[in-house]
Amino acid sequence: MISRAAVALPAYTEEVVHGLTSRPKTLPCKLLYDDHGSQLFEEITRLPEYYLTRTELGILQDYARNIVQAAGSPVSIVELGAGTATKTGTLLRAFARRQMRVKYFPVDISSGALGDAKERIKEECAKVIIHPVVADFGDGFHFLREIPGRKVVLYLGSSIGNFEWNDATAMLRRVRDQLTDGDALLLGTDMVKAPEILVPAYDDAQGVTEEFSKNILVRLNRELDANFDLDSFRHIAEWSPSQSRMEIFLQSLWPQTATLRTPRLTIQFRQGERIHTENSHKYTLEMIERMLCVSGFKLENTWFDAQKWFALNLARVQAD
Ligand code: AVI
Repeated sequence: MISRAAVALPAYTEEVVHGLTSRPKTLPCKLLYDDHGSQLFEEITRLPEYYLTRTELGILQDYARNIVQAAGSPVSIVELGAGTATKTGTLLRAFARRQMRVKYFPVDISSGALGDAKERIKEECAKVIIHPVVADFGDGFHFLREIPGRKVVLYLGSSIGNFEWNDATAMLRRVRDQLTDGDALLLGTDMVKAPEILVPAYDDAQGVTEEFSKNILVRLNRELDANFDLDSFRHIAEWSPSQSRMEIFLQSLWPQTATLRTPRLTIQFRQGERIHTENSHKYTLEMIERMLCVSGFKLENTWFDAQKWFALNLARVQAD
């Protein structure tokens, strides 16, 4: 247990200490997303190797009318982890063509990102009424109860893939518990595919993903007064067929010691030893159906791109 009496340590401190003293060493992937990390992730979404974002956008553009028709109306559209809402305009415009008053509730932990989302959507679809919601999903999804009418909840980008199976289903279940009969979920999922496509998506030629990964260490150096030497670690992205996921590590290039000063901790690394920083799960249609079913949803429609690399899944709340 770490004493918080002397200094106000970041809320994640215990998790970091636990992860760095475990075998194998781990760090929580949520630490990737400070302001700089979020900017780097935006850059990743534009990389040639990172097919996920543009493929999902392509599906939204090709099938917006079908998605809106299948979702039914009238609805409030809620987007979890909306960020700056770069992909949502197409869908909102399709909803606006079908129903008079479209209400859009982008939800995010970052009020700055939501400000950008509001400006973007106001420009892209003037008819849509926007109500940004600042929320940390760690505090639950109670805000869904206050949103009026029948809802379609968007969770795009295969963000669900960064959770372990049990955490993913627990999170979807918590969402479902705040919804009512007839409400729907539109879930973006990245599909299982050849490692030749997957690995470069997480280890790009320009090294943006490497910088993104190492941003965790930059953050610990700054926020916990650590002294990780970034050049002494290399970024590794591996496909694990048994876990159906991309696994991301930082590997120590040689034997070394790093220290945290607040709280005081010395961490020894052997040559080749890894810190596991992130997982990105990839799905088959059967896995998606099962994940939704155990979370209290029934999968109704799935739309793919031509190569079946990515899927948008419409699922309806299932009565318990
Ligand atoms: C946010 N999330 C869906 C990304 C992914 O593809 O798992 C995070 C990411 N990590 C490295 N590149 C992208």
